[in-house]
Amino acid sequence: MAHDNLFESVKMGTQTLKNRIVMAPLTRLRAVEPSDVPTALASEYYSQRAGSGLIITEATQVSFQAKGYAGAPGIHTQDQTTAWKTIVDNVHAKGGKIVVQLWHTGLVAHKSVQPDGQAPISASDIDVGVRTSLRDSDNQAIRVAATPPRPATLDEIKQVIADFVHATKCAQEAGFDGVEVHGAHGYLLHQFWVEQTNQRDDNYGGSRDNRARLTLDVIDACVDAWDADHVGVRISPLGTFNNVEAGYDEDESIWMIEQINKRGLMYLHLSEPDWAGGTPYNDEFRKNIRAAFDNTIIAAGGYTVEKAVKNTSAGFVDAVAFGRDYIATPDLAERIREDVPFNEQHPDSFYGGGTEGYTDYQFMNQA
Ligand SMILES: Cc1cc2nc3c(=O)[nH]c(=O)nc-3n(C[C@H](O)[C@H](O)[C@H](O)COP(=O)(O)O)c2cc1C
Repeated sequence: MAHDNLFESVKMGTQTLKNRIVMAPLTRLRAVEPSDVPTALASEYYSQRAGSGLIITEATQVSFQAKGYAGAPGIHTQDQTTAWKTIVDNVHAKGGKIVVQLWHTGLVAHKSVQPDGQAPISASDIDVGVRTSLRDSDNQAIRVAATPPRPATLDEIKQVIADFVHATKCAQEAGFDGVEVHGAHGYLLHQFWVEQTNQRDDNYGGSRDNRARLTLDVIDACVDAWDADHVGVRISPLGTFNNVEAGYDEDESIWMIEQINKRGLMYLHLSEPDWAGGTPYNDEFRKNIRAAFDNTIIAAGGYTVEKAVKNTSAGFVDAVAFGRDYIATPDLAERIREDVPFNEQHPDSFYGGGTEGYTDYQFMNQA
């Protein structure tokens, strides 16, 4: 069949994924407040999607300071780690693999979810006018303006790196198959590498090397805490997300990918900007990315099965992550294999709430 290549196995560090269809990281804002512990429902949700070659969890805080949205989970307390272990065990029991996406939201945060109600940290005190979300009494997400940020002190930067290390160790304890550092979408690491939001004059601002430093320091620290075969990274070259510009043109994107490549990470995950109104990557850029990175490349962003087959067959990428379709179609990989149409998406229930639009989408044998 035309999509057979998506069902070939693929390497992820020392591990093997059973197919090339990945569940993209998807924030769903259904964790317990204020402990940020994932629920039993989250366990059902992820287990339902274990037919994918790899599940990348929703973005997950490395500390209480890393939190920007009400209802996003963490992986830095014992209760959170224990809850994630149940999720991981259930996914493994169904033959799936799962890594946790580690984030610090930086300026995409509201002070009411910050420790002591402080303003969130960022590289500088630049307010990009972004929105985040809090929660109403029905657990529904409500959009609010983010609180203007303050510049992180050098001690706070050290602490952020230490928090990624701690979260990586919690992920190991929970039995995850690896961690994905969230370096994309205008969150803290990205805020440091973009001149728009980084006006620092210390080692973490100014030159290209300095602006990339926090992302690379975090990656190095996670690799030290576990190993390169269990650390991946997500970046979003050429895309504006959360009002934070891409910051890097094609050449600088390739430079960044080369720096990441030197670390020997298990994968590079590209969040392509098409779905958010950005310009699609051209084949030349894809070839240059391929040439700059030796290990597995995962790509996401507006992929159809046809585009997934095209870009994997061309060798530009090794696996493709599906986002919104994986929310709506729990057995997405199985349906691709059998050419069964996907379920309709219900964006109103993407963020916040309970079972509706979370664990109640139908499987193909029920449809
Ligand atoms: C509801 C929703 C939540 C998302 N949450 C995250 C997230 O936590 N981390 C992340 O890196 N990307 C996140 N994304 C981006 C997705 O991972 C993916 O890149 C995007 O949906 C484009 O893929 P698609 O066209 O297949 O949906 C989110 C997207 C959506 C729609």
